[in-house]
Amino acid sequence: MAHRWLRWPHPHNPIAYGADYNPEQWSPRTWREDVALMREASVNIVNLGIFSWAEVRPAPDEWRWDWLDEILDLLHDNGIAVDLGTGTASPPPWLTTLHPEILPVTADGRTLGPGGRQHWRPTSPVFRRYALEHVRAVADRYGAHPGLAMWHVSNELGCHNALDYSDDAAAAFRTWLRARYDTLDALNTAWGTAFWSQRYSAWEQILPPRLAASYPNPAQQLDFHRFSSDALREHLRAEAAVLRELTPDIPVTTNFMVMGDTRNMDYAGWRHDVDLVSNDHYLTGARPDAFEELCFSANLVRGLADSAPWFLMEQSTSAVNWQPVNHAKAPGQLARDSLAHLAHGADAISFFQWRQSTAGAEKYHSAMLPHAGTRSRLWRDVRDLGATLRELGEVAGSRAAPSSVAVLFDWESWWSSELDSHPSELFRYRELALDWYKAFEALGIATDVQPVDADLTGYRMVVAPGLHLVPADLAARITAHVDGGGHFVTTFFSGIVDENDRVLTGGYPGAFRDLLGVRVEEFAPLAPGAVAALDRAGHGTLWTEHIAVDPGVDVLVRFADGDLAGLPAATRRPVGTGSAAYAGTRLDPVALRALVGDLSGRAGLGPDLDPAAAPAVVRRVRQTDTTRYVFLVNRTREARTVTAEHGYDLLGRREVTGSLDLAPLGVAVLRQPRPIDHDECSLGTELIQKTS
Ligand code: GAL
Repeated sequence: MAHRWLRWPHPHNPIAYGADYNPEQWSPRTWREDVALMREASVNIVNLGIFSWAEVRPAPDEWRWDWLDEILDLLHDNGIAVDLGTGTASPPPWLTTLHPEILPVTADGRTLGPGGRQHWRPTSPVFRRYALEHVRAVADRYGAHPGLAMWHVSNELGCHNALDYSDDAAAAFRTWLRARYDTLDALNTAWGTAFWSQRYSAWEQILPPRLAASYPNPAQQLDFHRFSSDALREHLRAEAAVLRELTPDIPVTTNFMVMGDTRNMDYAGWRHDVDLVSNDHYLTGARPDAFEELCFSANLVRGLADSAPWFLMEQSTSAVNWQPVNHAKAPGQLARDSLAHLAHGADAISFFQWRQSTAGAEKYHSAMLPHAGTRSRLWRDVRDLGATLRELGEVAGSRAAPSSVAVLFDWESWWSSELDSHPSELFRYRELALDWYKAFEALGIATDVQPVDADLTGYRMVVAPGLHLVPADLAARITAHVDGGGHFVTTFFSGIVDENDRVLTGGYPGAFRDLLGVRVEEFAPLAPGAVAALDRAGHGTLWTEHIAVDPGVDVLVRFADGDLAGLPAATRRPVGTGSAAYAGTRLDPVALRALVGDLSGRAGLGPDLDPAAAPAVVRRVRQTDTTRYVFLVNRTREARTVTAEHGYDLLGRREVTGSLDLAPLGVAVLRQPRPIDHDECSLGTELIQKTS
C-alpha cells in the first residue's frame, strides 16, 4: 500500500471533518442551507454520491448529471472537499428488472429481491460490466473537478452480500479453487473428502457450501469464506483500476467495516488495494464495553494502515436505526468517541450522515444535523467538535507510536474457529481477543492490535488469543520471535489446525505444543453459565482441558474444582530470555488481569500509564520525528486524575507538569518533544508489579 492522503485543499485545517452527504434527498434550496451550516460546523469534506446510481442514471439510456454538477460546484465554492462515491453500492431498479440474474442467492437457495440495497452478486459478470461502466462515466465526468479529494469505491463492500451462493458464485468458486489447488487430487486432499463419501471426480461437481442435509465440509466452508472475501476484493480492484487509469493522482479508498461481528472480509489482504485505509465504526449499544470495542477496532485499523493516518469514514453522532434498541449517546460522548479514533491514528472524523433523512429506512438514524435542527444539543456538540478538531490540527500527519505488546488478529482463525460441529458453539474468537486486549489496557500497558501477517520485530510480547488456524510458516515466525528473546502468550483452541482446517495431531495445541511445553489430550468445554474455580481470585468460563506440562514449565494458575482440580489452567515456559505462556480456560476479567500482570512483570514490561488511572483512562501516543502527542481519554462518566504526565495541553492550552484532571468522558492531548532515542515511554517495571 502506497500510503497516500487526500488531495487536500485545507493546509490550515488539516483534520478532515464531515459526513456522508445525500443531497439527492433534498431540494436545491436546502443544499444552500446545508453548505452554510457545514461551514458553521467546520465541515471541510463530505462523502458524496454514495447511493446515487439511480439518480445519475435513472434509466438505461438516460443520464442526469446536472444536480451532481451543481452540488459539486457549490461545495467547492464553499471550500468543502469531496470524497466522491463511484455510486455502485446499490443497483437501480431498471438494472435488476433487466438483469434479475445479478441478484444474490442465500445458502438455502432464496434469491434476495431488490428494494433494499446492495442486492448484487459480487461475482456477476453482468453486474460488474454495468458497475464499471458507471465508474468510468463518473470518473470521466468528475476526475478533473478541483473539489475532488478522493474516490470512494462502492460502499461497505460485503455489508449485506458477502456470502452469495448463486450459480455465478459456484462458477467463480471453481475458478478460484483451480487456481489454488491446480488438481482435483490436491483439492480432495485439502478438503479431506475421503470423509462421508465426498470425493470429487470433476470440477463441475463442486458447489458453494449450500444448505445441506448435514454439516457441510469444513474445509470447503473455510475456502468459501476465503473465496467470498477475495471476490469482493476483486470488485474493489476492478473499480480501483478504472479510477487509477483515468485519474492516477486521486487516491482511492473504500470503507472497511472493522467493528463488532462483521467478519466476512479479510482486510489484512484488502489493505493493499487502497491508497489509504478507511473504516466505519458503530458502537454496539447493548455492550457494556462498547467503548473498549471501539478502541480495539480503531487499534486494528491502525494496524491495517501500518500506523499511517487513516480515515474514519462513518460513525453515528448519536443513535443508529438498526439495533434492537437504539441508544442515544450521552453528553460528551460524541467528542470522546471521535477523539478516541483520532488517538488511534485517524486524521479524518466523518459521520453517517450530514442531514437526518425524513424518509427511508434510516430516518431515525442520527446525523450531524438532526430533525430538531440547529436548536439542539446534538448540533452544538457537532459544531464544538469541529472547533476542537481545528485546535488539534497540528496532530494531523503524525503516526501512531508503536507499543511493546502486539495482540494478533486473524480473519482465517475467526472463520475456522467458529465453524459448526466444534467442541463448543459458544467459542467467540473476537471476544477472546478483546478480553486480552482489555486486560492489558486495564493495567495501563498499551497494545497494538495487529493483523497476523504484521512484522513482529520490536514487540516484546505477542499475544495470540484463540489463534486457531496456524500454517507452518506462522508457527515458525512465532517460534523465531520467542527464540529471539520475545514473549508469546496464547490460549485454548489455538494452534489446532493447519490452513486446510486439518487437525495437527499428537496432542493439542499441535502448532505450539513444543514451544509452550504443554500437551492437551482432550477438550472439556463448559456448559453455558458454568464456571471453573481457580486457585486464585476469579474463575474460568467456556472451556477447560487437561493440560500436561513438560519439565521446566511453570504452572501459574491451577483449576481448583471438578475433575481437573489441581491441574494446570495457565502455564509459562521460559525460553532463553523469552517465554511462551498458555491459558487453558477463558479467564474472567479478575483472573485475566492478574495473569496479564504476572506475565508482564516476568517479561519486564511496565505500564505506559499511571496504573491507578489505567482502568478508566486510555493512553495512546502519536508522533512525528520531533514531537509526540499523548492522548488521554477518560472512558468513564466520572472525573479522573492522571499522574506522571507532562507536556503542553493542546485543548486546555497550558503546561501540564505531573498531574492532569480529566473531566467525565474528557480528553486531553499533550504535546511533548520526542526523546532523541525514540524510545517508547514506559513508567518502568516497578509500577506494574504494584498492580499484579
Ligand atoms: C452503514 C452504511 C451507511 C448507513 C449506516 C447507518 O452501514 O455505510 O450507508 O447505512 O451504516 O448506520
